[in-house]
Amino acid sequence: MITFKGVKQQLFWKGSPRSISFDSKGIQHKLRNTADNCFIVEDHAGRIGVANAGSLTTEDKGLQVLGMVAPLEAHQLGDSSFQADYALKYNYKTGAMANGIASEELVIAMGKAGLIGSFGAAGLVPSRVEKAIKTIQAALTKESYAVNLIHSPNEPALEEGAVKHFLGLGVRVVEASAFLNLTLNIVHYRVAGLSQDADGKTVINNKVIAKISRKEVASHFMQPAPIKYLNQLLEAGKITALQAQLAAKVPMADDITVEADSGGHTDNRPLVALLPSIVRLRDEMMQKHQFDFPIRIGAAGGISTPESALSAFMMGAAYIVTGSVNQACVEAGTSEHVRKLLATVSQTDVMMAPASDMFEMGVELQVLKRGTLFGPRAKKLYELYMKHDSIDEIDEKVRLKIEKTVFKKTFDEVWQGCIDFFNERDPRQIQRAQDNPKRKMALIFRWYLGLSSNWANKGVKERLTDMQIWCGPSMGAFNDWAKGSYLEAYQNREAADIALHIMEGAAYLYRVQALKTQGINLDNDLANYQLSTPIASLSV
Ligand SMILES: Cc1cc2nc3c(=O)[nH]c(=O)nc-3n(C[C@H](O)[C@H](O)[C@H](O)COP(=O)(O)O)c2cc1C
Repeated sequence: MITFKGVKQQLFWKGSPRSISFDSKGIQHKLRNTADNCFIVEDHAGRIGVANAGSLTTEDKGLQVLGMVAPLEAHQLGDSSFQADYALKYNYKTGAMANGIASEELVIAMGKAGLIGSFGAAGLVPSRVEKAIKTIQAALTKESYAVNLIHSPNEPALEEGAVKHFLGLGVRVVEASAFLNLTLNIVHYRVAGLSQDADGKTVINNKVIAKISRKEVASHFMQPAPIKYLNQLLEAGKITALQAQLAAKVPMADDITVEADSGGHTDNRPLVALLPSIVRLRDEMMQKHQFDFPIRIGAAGGISTPESALSAFMMGAAYIVTGSVNQACVEAGTSEHVRKLLATVSQTDVMMAPASDMFEMGVELQVLKRGTLFGPRAKKLYELYMKHDSIDEIDEKVRLKIEKTVFKKTFDEVWQGCIDFFNERDPRQIQRAQDNPKRKMALIFRWYLGLSSNWANKGVKERLTDMQIWCGPSMGAFNDWAKGSYLEAYQNREAADIALHIMEGAAYLYRVQALKTQGINLDNDLANYQLSTPIASLSV
């Protein structure tokens, strides 16, 4: 159960013998009481037990102390200023998932549990986003939430419209993602929220949590807004002269989420390599700019278990962000078919495939390859796009095969679908493709890539093999952890419950590891955090 191979402390424990647990269940309970001290003691019969209460003495009276850990509660992991700034109980955020997969329900559930969720606004029409924001605002009157502001190089009107909407609706936190550089729009959002308090101190009303996976991009968000954009915004009357002046004193982002190998857009970098580099870059930037507002660094990508969460915090993450694991939860805006499928996947069931939004640029994202053929089919379309300058150049046999087995429509029908789609969202897309056959081909292929995620979200039975399901290896890691527990069944997966287990589990494992450094080894049933009951009923 507990074995000891370390050096005995020169300390003795005094307290009621009845407060010591020697059995597995009692020890586990005491380890879980992360708000209390944990003393590992040896009684006179040579048994090793655990106590939360009692006191220590250097006099050789009482029981020999083998090791001990001070209280460390889940809410202490990470940076307390992140909690303070966003009014949270834990340094835990759920990332946006496009097309409303990170739904209103998910964001509200997060907010109610003292965590922060980001609404998956990408890919949705403005009216749908507005409805979601209003629903979230009505439910979370005091709690925090974020909305995704995704960079859209191919549809700049979307990004501009989103910022206009967010400012109009009073959205106070955006999760900025997919940016390669700063744009006028993100600068507009940030700077339009700057003001001064009565003491002349700068106040940041519009918070930016920027998600990045490269140093170059991170550095843009760690600097003040570029002068050229400030001048343009001033000229357009979108910011005041005072705001332009204040912009020099604040970084573009309050928080930078370092995204490692994740579901959706990813550079597939390992967190252990990427995070320290970005932390170092942050330190350099803070040294250079001497901001009054410290930039925090969070971690995303691959986090879905207590072990991964703890490692991120121990590497210096101020907060953690999860994604894939939440798509498998009951609140996710996806179909039951997808949630059920996700509960069966392992870490190797994912692959990279072309992204619909940045198809022409060759950008890829991570998708599920189990139970769907989307990945290989999308890759084939990209291959054709690279090889040809127009759809007319595609070999007839190949075209017919795609029309029959993949599109289930002719290319002409698909083109008509594109016209209808973009007329509502951004008619310039169609105009730009009229005299540009390669662009027209891209839009036709993107029709499939775009719809395939809707088929997944809606659970369209005729399109099971075409479902595009964004997913990272963390899904498999979660399934491994949940195996044999009540969370193995997809119907029981609730995002806030999982989040709290990850955080409580990380605090628990911190104790396990701290004891290990003192030579105290726990058997597997104690060394692992057990997923026995929903967190609400836990006594810790
Ligand atoms: C289904 C799905 C959709 C996603 N869509 C978006 C998105 O629209 N915008 C965004 O910033 N991140 C998106 N992400 C990334 C997540 O917000 C999060 O950063 C990432 O999933 C964390 O890594 P993990 O998948 O290993 O947990 C998506 C992830 C998934 C799984």
